[in-house]
Amino acid sequence: MNPTRVLFICLGNICRSPLAEGAARKLVRDRGLEDRFRFDSAATAGYHEGEPYDPRVGAVLQKYDAGFEHRARRIRPEDFRAFDWILGMDEENLRDLRRMAPADAAAQIALVTEPWGGGRVTDPYYEGDWACEQTYLELEDLVERWLERWLEEADGSTETA
Ligand code: 4NP
Repeated sequence: MNPTRVLFICLGNICRSPLAEGAARKLVRDRGLEDRFRFDSAATAGYHEGEPYDPRVGAVLQKYDAGFEHRARRIRPEDFRAFDWILGMDEENLRDLRRMAPADAAAQIALVTEPWGGGRVTDPYYEGDWACEQTYLELEDLVERWLERWLEEADGSTETA
């Protein structure tokens, strides 16, 4: 079975999308689903290209045993063909993604908060240290709901464990 390939997107690829990628990698590792999914993350803007994730993000990922090797990168046209899902963190991300998508894009583009019925995740870049952990927990809950949906779509099962 082909893995479900998911790209998390935010503005800088140093806060929200690496938190989502870390949570997703950790969840599938804990559930023995690593061969069913591929996760990556990228930015809509180039401000932080080549940088590791924000140190506050690193501390939270480490606390939850969810750290991974990361260098911020911008989304590329081929990402729209290589991934099944591209999940943005806010409406601005969605607008940028729809504008950047090539004509032959295959990926489905959605808000990561779709399982909550929309809205924003907290952007820790503009907040205090508390926000990174809050955002991680929000994204962990959201990714868990997405996992159920993707597994259901892939094999008609609601089992996630
Ligand atoms: P992120 O947070 O999009 O969650 O990685 C931000 C990172 C950088 C900037 C804004 C938000 N910035 O303006 O450089």
